[in-house]
Amino acid sequence: MAVTWNSESSARRNGVIAIALPKGRLLSPVMTLFEGMGITCLRAFADSRRLICEDTDRQLQFLTLKPADIPTYVEYGAADMGIVGKDQLLEQCRDVYEPLDLRFGACRLVVAEPAELQKQDDPHSWSHLRLATKYPHLTEAYFSRKGIQAEIIKLNGSLELAPLVGLAERIVDLVETGQTLKENGLVEVEEIAKATARLIVNRASLKTKYHRVQALIEQMRKQVDAQAERARA
Ligand code: PRP
Repeated sequence: MAVTWNSESSARRNGVIAIALPKGRLLSPVMTLFEGMGITCLRAFADSRRLICEDTDRQLQFLTLKPADIPTYVEYGAADMGIVGKDQLLEQCRDVYEPLDLRFGACRLVVAEPAELQKQDDPHSWSHLRLATKYPHLTEAYFSRKGIQAEIIKLNGSLELAPLVGLAERIVDLVETGQTLKENGLVEVEEIAKATARLIVNRASLKTKYHRVQALIEQMRKQVDAQAERARA
């Protein structure tokens, strides 16, 4: 049987709003956010290998992806909306609308190096560095602004390993609790940026599905405010 490919996603054809969600550490607070809005179908992601689920009553479709792929899905309109860390948005500079800081998933992008190296290191004397990172563009821009030549080795995970095996002396990576740095004998030496989870929206969907998209943004905004209120109490 011949299989035909249709460039228009099923979400767009059926008037469904497709929302791309990040796998990994942001998924749990994202599930809490949607549960607060009465949406419970995301539990399917927690205990299976499913990559897509739907809330048919609300005409919502949820996709789970690697965080780095979410801005691409949203920019191209394969998803109408997405949730992703500000780190990925700063790295990728995609053409998407970013209406809401969701305030969870707070972390920092830092330069780190082995504790032994730090004892004799002076960041003011840096002129050339070799760094391993998942964020080549942010790293390049940061050191270029400081007039430091950065030789960048792009990796996709477990960055803390690179200095331990001599691949690079330093890394540029996210720090949340600091536990991974500590357990691998690394210390933070400079902070490059702060990041939290953000809601992003495809620019065409913002126009063509304006009322539904705005209603979802407002519902999420209320949830985020309510969560912040509970945290303060
Ligand atoms: C991230 C980041 C650090 C770690 C920091 O990695 O790249 O390795 O979390 O968290 P901590 O400060 O709370 O220890 P992630 O768990 O996403 O996996 P990865 O290394 O495979 O990218």
